Amino acid sequence: MMTTTHSLDMQVYTKQRREAVESALEAILTKWEKDLRVPKVLAESMRYSLMSPGKRMRALLCIAACETVLHINNGAQSEKTDFNLLEQKIFEQVSALACSIEMIHAMSLIHDDLPCLDNDDMRRGQATNHVVFGEAMALLAGDALILRAIENIIEGTPASVSKDGVLEVIKELSIAAGAPGMVGGQVFDLVKDLDVKRIHDEKTGALIAFSLWSGARLATYDNRASATQEQLDGLRQFGFVLGLAFQIADDLLDINGSVEVIGKTPGKDAASDKVTWVSIFGEDGARAKLSQLMEQGENLLKDHNLKFAPLPVLSELLSFAITRSH
Ligand code: IPE
Ligand code: IPE
Ligand code: MG
Ligand code: MG
Ligand code: MG
Repeated sequence: MMTTTHSLDMQVYTKQRREAVESALEAILTKWEKDLRVPKVLAESMRYSLMSPGKRMRALLCIAACETVLHINNGAQSEKTDFNLLEQKIFEQVSALACSIEMIHAMSLIHDDLPCLDNDDMRRGQATNHVVFGEAMALLAGDALILRAIENIIEGTPASVSKDGVLEVIKELSIAAGAPGMVGGQVFDLVKDLDVKRIHDEKTGALIAFSLWSGARLATYDNRASATQEQLDGLRQFGFVLGLAFQIADDLLDINGSVEVIGKTPGKDAASDKVTWVSIFGEDGARAKLSQLMEQGENLLKDHNLKFAPLPVLSELLSFAITRSH
């Protein structure tokens, strides 16, 4: 019997998928820029923020969730030896979705940086959108990105993925990014609500949980949805664990990071008297919570049939969310 040795190098894995998402985004933008009805300055402002160097974490989570359920449930390419390689047939199922999630995320950053919210002038190592294009254009670029994101899921998801799945994904995206999710969380952040878990779950966790859930929801094998209800529920819960870890790590980077590495001005949370994990529980409390979340996330993957030994990308991405330096 032949034994197969699988290889996974997370740096190569993430690089491949990040590049695939960025070229898909580039293709979408190029197509849209040909539309003469769209004001040139609006298109420029949207491109400026969408294509600036982000980590593409939410897109990676979406693709990783899709790949994970396809490999576990259908043995998709289980004989494959190189899990770094992106399979086109898998990627095309969620490529439009992953790009749309990045559009919603870019909108959230443009709006979060506005003077009426966090009033930041650096983002992803460059001047914020409103500094370059003015507040009005930044507001409108964000508005346009939200609606382009919805249009893009409908337009770009292949016909092999069920329309029911697409509709459910759009509904859940509207909830995750909307009033009961990210927008609501930004309000709790703004009014300095003292329930920091709720602030973080809503402003950050909801879109991250959606990214994982939706990547699995659209995973299609033999014209049928591949993910089980148990896996979908597990991915959503795992997403809130990863989302909380991601935001606590962001709170720590605001204290210990440098502008050169994090690409945004540090020290802003304390200067604005923000309610963060660190402001409530201290740096040690934040670090202790991160270790607890790592364990909780691992258990969720185990208990919901989301572990596939040759492709442990969900654990690796959780670990990245916790240990990241930018
Ligand atoms: C920043 O998100 C906003 C938070 C929720 C902390 P990211 O850290 O994912 O930002 P980019 O996309 O890499 O710039
Ligand atoms: C960002 O939280 C949450 C959203 C953008 C929805 P922060 O305000 O902490 O993010 P940064 O530090 O500006 O990236
Ligand atoms: Mg903010
Ligand atoms: Mg901010
Ligand atoms: Mg922050």
